Amino acid sequence: MGKVSKNRVSVAPMMDWTDRHCRYFHRLLAPNALLYTEMVTTGALLHGDVDRHLRFDPSEHPVVLQLGGSEPDDLAACAKMATEYGYDEINLNCGCPSERVQKGAFGACLMAEPELVRDCVAAMRAATPLPITVKCRIGIDDMEPRQGLWTFVEKVHAGGCDTFVIHARKAWLKGLSPRENREVPPLDYALVRDLKRDFAGLNFVLNGGVTTVHDTLSHLDTFDGVMLGRAAYQNPHILTEVEEALHGTTALPLQTLIEKMIAYAQAQREMHGTPLHSITRHMVGLNAGKRGARRWRQILTVDALKAKTPQDVFWPALEAIS
Ligand SMILES: Cc1cc2nc3c(=O)[nH]c(=O)nc-3n(C[C@H](O)[C@H](O)[C@H](O)COP(=O)(O)O)c2cc1C
Repeated sequence: MGKVSKNRVSVAPMMDWTDRHCRYFHRLLAPNALLYTEMVTTGALLHGDVDRHLRFDPSEHPVVLQLGGSEPDDLAACAKMATEYGYDEINLNCGCPSERVQKGAFGACLMAEPELVRDCVAAMRAATPLPITVKCRIGIDDMEPRQGLWTFVEKVHAGGCDTFVIHARKAWLKGLSPRENREVPPLDYALVRDLKRDFAGLNFVLNGGVTTVHDTLSHLDTFDGVMLGRAAYQNPHILTEVEEALHGTTALPLQTLIEKMIAYAQAQREMHGTPLHSITRHMVGLNAGKRGARRWRQILTVDALKAKTPQDVFWPALEAIS
């Protein structure tokens, strides 16, 4: 059942951040990383503009579509769409604590309904040959993880999921904002280690609070994969460092990277009318800490809003760093 991904480092699904432009950029930095989409709800796919949500550039492979939903039939229909669009994997969101998501009765609150998640996974498995994975927390509210999480994994595995991405902190569904829910509940990597020990046949990807290459590599000694979220977005250079350490990949020179992004921005504008700023905004953190980083940031955020061509923005930005 399923397969262990050879792309053991992944960039987390992040709403408003990991859109296709961001993934195109991350792929240039990390040829081997597994890239996730933002969460896309079943409602958005069943009633909205499917192509807008699902299209991606072929260079983004391997790419995972993260779905938000809790209706087995709807998820199965969306899994079919993902298959037609050529995604490599589908992930079900069982970790998002936002109020909007709770109202839709999916995301982290699904951790309290392992049978329903099992049925969702089974319905998707029946609809697609793609691997189905689940991303969750170590628990919600006053759930005792060694019961709740263990039961969740056991039941959901029975539906056909053998890879779990575990954000190693609880979600507190009442009283914390989504942002606080990424910072306040304490991280517990040891618990995820025990989970892996107790379900030795399954794959566990560790997520949450990993911010250095050193920690990424050391977690890979224990876990089947490591997922980087904020660190990868805010300091994308970490992706090149991880890539080099794991695969010996030589990083693209900044100038080559910029040339590729110019070509991409031009093509996106011609094909879809994409504003330049929608692309440059994901690159702001690239040169953090270097001389000229402030100017780089300013050009990519402010100047990009009024520039006529990508060259008008990217070349001065490069010059600021050189
Ligand atoms: C801006 C933002 C948006 C996020 N959106 C999603 C999402 O759509 N789906 C999801 O499963 N997690 C989402 N997350 C959570 C991340 O995937 C990840 O689990 C979390 O940030 C912890 O990892 P980190 O400490 O490496 O950032 C989001 C996080 C951030 C910062």
